[in-house]
Amino acid sequence: MNAPASTTRPELAGHPHFHYRDGVLHAEGVALDKLAAELGTPLYVYSRAALAAALGSYRDAIGDRPVLVCFGMKANSNLAVLKEFARLGAGFDIVSGGELQRVLAVGGDPSRVVFSGVGKQAWEMRAAIEAGVMCFNVESQAELRRLSQVAHEMGQTARVSLRVNPDVDAQTHPYISTGLKENKFGIAIESALDAYRLAASLPGLEVVGVDCHIGSQLTDISPYFDALEKLLDLISQLAEEGITISHLDLGGGLGIRYTDEIPPSPKALLDGVFARLQARGLGHLHLVLEPGRSLVGNAGLLLTTVQYLKHAEARNFAIVDAAMNDLLRPSLYEAYHGLRAVRPRQGDEQEYDVVGPVCESGDWLARQRRLSVQEGDVLALESAGAYGMVMASNYNSRGRPAEVMVDGDKYYVVRQRETLADLIRGESTLP
Ligand code: LLP
Repeated sequence: MNAPASTTRPELAGHPHFHYRDGVLHAEGVALDKLAAELGTPLYVYSRAALAAALGSYRDAIGDRPVLVCFGMKANSNLAVLKEFARLGAGFDIVSGGELQRVLAVGGDPSRVVFSGVGKQAWEMRAAIEAGVMCFNVESQAELRRLSQVAHEMGQTARVSLRVNPDVDAQTHPYISTGLKENKFGIAIESALDAYRLAASLPGLEVVGVDCHIGSQLTDISPYFDALEKLLDLISQLAEEGITISHLDLGGGLGIRYTDEIPPSPKALLDGVFARLQARGLGHLHLVLEPGRSLVGNAGLLLTTVQYLKHAEARNFAIVDAAMNDLLRPSLYEAYHGLRAVRPRQGDEQEYDVVGPVCESGDWLARQRRLSVQEGDVLALESAGAYGMVMASNYNSRGRPAEVMVDGDKYYVVRQRETLADLIRGESTLP
C-alpha cells in the first residue's frame, strides 16, 4: 500500500480493497477519479471483494461450529449488497416490513431471517410469519401478546426469542449503546423469567431462543462476555422450568477501524463464546450473530468534490458537494471518517474543516484535517459502507447519492442518483 504522503493519514489501515495506484485512489481495479467524472458526486462506492472478505472473516472463524450470521441489514440495505450476502449463504437481521421486502426481493432465505426491533406492527408480524422467518426477537410483554394474537389468528406458530437487556456497559457512544437499563431496548434481565413464562403460556408462540444486542462499534470484547454469562444463567433457570432454548443470539456490534481502533476479531469473539458455552455444558446451543457494521463499514467510500475553498479568520473550510444529508454520522455522533484525496497533490497542506452545503452549523464531514486541495478535487470519505446511505435524507431538498458496486475492474450502478423529479414525487398542492 503506497499512499502518498500528502494525504491525511499515512496508510489506509484495514481497507485493503481501496488503494493507490499511479497516484490515484482505486476501488479494486477501478480508478475513482474516472468513476467520479462519469457518475458524478456525491457517490457511494462499494467493493464486492471487501464484502466477501468481511463475511469470509466470520466464516473462517466459525469453522464447523453451529453459527448463523444474520447480516444486520440496517447498516446497508442496498439490494446488490444483500444479494451478495444471500449468495454467500448469510441470513439477515431485519427490523421492518420494508427490510423483509428487500430480503425477499433478492431471493434471501426467510428461514435464515431474524426479526428484531422494539416496535413491530401487526402487519409486519403477519408478513414475517407468512414469509416463514426463523425467529422474532421480542422486546416486551406487550409485544408478546400482540404477536401471539396475530399468529393465533393466522392459525400459525411464531418462533420467539426474548431480547434480554443484560445491563452491561458496552463502552461505546451513548446513542449506539443499547444494553443498559436506561435504554429502551429489550426486557430487563430481572423480568426475563416472567416474560418467558408468559411466552410459554400464550397460544401461537413457540419459545426457541434468547437474544441480546448490547451496542454497536464495540472495540472491547469483555462486555460481550459479561452479557453472555448473564444470558447463560438465564438459560439454566429456564431449563429448570422446562423451557428449552435451542439458540442464543448475541446480536451485532463488533467495531471496525475508523482511525486507530483495534476491534476484536470474529474469531476472538467466537472462541470466547464457545469456550464459555462448553464450560457450562451448553455446547449444543446454536449461535446467531447479527453483525452489520463489521460486514460493510470498510467496504464502502463516499466520494465528494470540493466546490469552494473558504479561508475564514478562524478556520479554513473546504466546502464539498456531500453533506450531512448524505452521511449523517459526523453530525449525529461526532464520528470520525478518514478522508483522502483521490488524486493527492504534492503542494502545501493546510488545516481544513470539510463541510457541506446544508444550512446547519452541524453540517460537517471532517474537521481539522491537513489537506492540500483545490476546487474540483475529489475526496473520499472512508469507512462509509455502514450507516451511510441508509441514513441519508432529502434535507434541503437534496437528492440522495447514487451507489455503485465495484467488482474487479468493472463497476455497476446499483442505485441511481435521485433526480429533482424524484424529490417532489407524491406531493401535491391544494386544489
Ligand atoms: N442487531 C440489532 C438488534 C441492532 O440494533 C443492531 C444495530 C445490529 C444488530 C447491528 O449492529 P452492528 O453490528 O452494526 O454494530 N447508526 C449508528 C449505529 C446504530 C446501530 C443500531 N443497531 C452508527 O452509525 O454508528
